[in-house]
Amino acid sequence: MKQDDGMAATVNRAAEAARAPFYDKAKTKHLAPLWRVLGGLVPAEPVTPCVPAVWHYKEIRPYLMEACELIRAEEAERRVLTLENPALPGESRITRSLFAGLQIILPGETAPAHRHMAAALRFIVEGKNAFTAVGGEKTVMEPGDFVITPSMAWHDHGNESDEPMVWLDGLDLHMVNMFDASFRDAYPEPRHPTTRPNGTSNYEWGMNMLPVDHDYRDMSSPIFNYPYTRTRETLEAMTRARPADPWHGYKMRYINPLTGDWAMPTISVWMQLLQKGFKTQAYRATDATVFAVVEGTGSSRIGNVEFTWGPKDIFVAPSWLFQEHSAASDAVIFSFSDRVAQEKLGYFREQKGNQ
Ligand SMILES: [Fe+2]
Repeated sequence: MKQDDGMAATVNRAAEAARAPFYDKAKTKHLAPLWRVLGGLVPAEPVTPCVPAVWHYKEIRPYLMEACELIRAEEAERRVLTLENPALPGESRITRSLFAGLQIILPGETAPAHRHMAAALRFIVEGKNAFTAVGGEKTVMEPGDFVITPSMAWHDHGNESDEPMVWLDGLDLHMVNMFDASFRDAYPEPRHPTTRPNGTSNYEWGMNMLPVDHDYRDMSSPIFNYPYTRTRETLEAMTRARPADPWHGYKMRYINPLTGDWAMPTISVWMQLLQKGFKTQAYRATDATVFAVVEGTGSSRIGNVEFTWGPKDIFVAPSWLFQEHSAASDAVIFSFSDRVAQEKLGYFREQKGNQ
């Protein structure tokens, strides 16, 4: 019979009762028998406590609005409702390694300047003309934009428009905390001074040209807003130029233009287009992935769970569960995972097709 309590398969269970007094004695010296937990510590293939889950924006938006009535952005520091994996309540995790939450800022509010070791991405869900400032440069954000706040970069957010602004935050903070390597500083003023014209980074680094003798060496991309208009145009052009990938449709990765590597050192980020009627082939990988729908409707099967999705919905696919996605209309989906970190450590594996 299959035992799944983590005990090594070779252990004679009938003999364990006689060993109990020894285990109790060893415990007083902070010693524990590895053979009782070995199977669980070193599973034969990925085992995750995370479950597939979907957050339908229509259902959760009222909660964001209610949070606005209860607490100001300045009081909350960041007014965010965390998307908790249903199997990990209270852990502020959407996957084991990633934090995700929806942040809302009302007109006139400011989320005060701070910096921290954890790196963050923002994916804009609703509203426009609010800004994020990173290291002295502001970027005005629109739905579908992908914005990076690199590790230890000063950042603040503000809304100078006349409508609420909502974005999805994705952070690597659980990776940082696994290493107990977190630092955080509050800036003495609510806002970090602006020292560069808005949007400079996109000209400086995002136009296939680089300043002569530049010495940019940060591990994170120097571009910190990848605007949706350009992403969407790129995906559309791909549909005219090449066949869809059977497992991903038209899927592009966001990169650091200086190195060609992923845009962030710990989080991989993509945007993909699934044309109407397209169904992806079964695919699984070791990187649990968060998806945010920008346009279109469709459905997904992740492991044994099936659900439909539409614009602004968010869903999560845990590690090593097969996933299949079907588009009922042309669908554009943003996604992120810890793949880049796993690649650096040599952990990443994927399987195309369920044979
Ligand atoms: Fe922050």
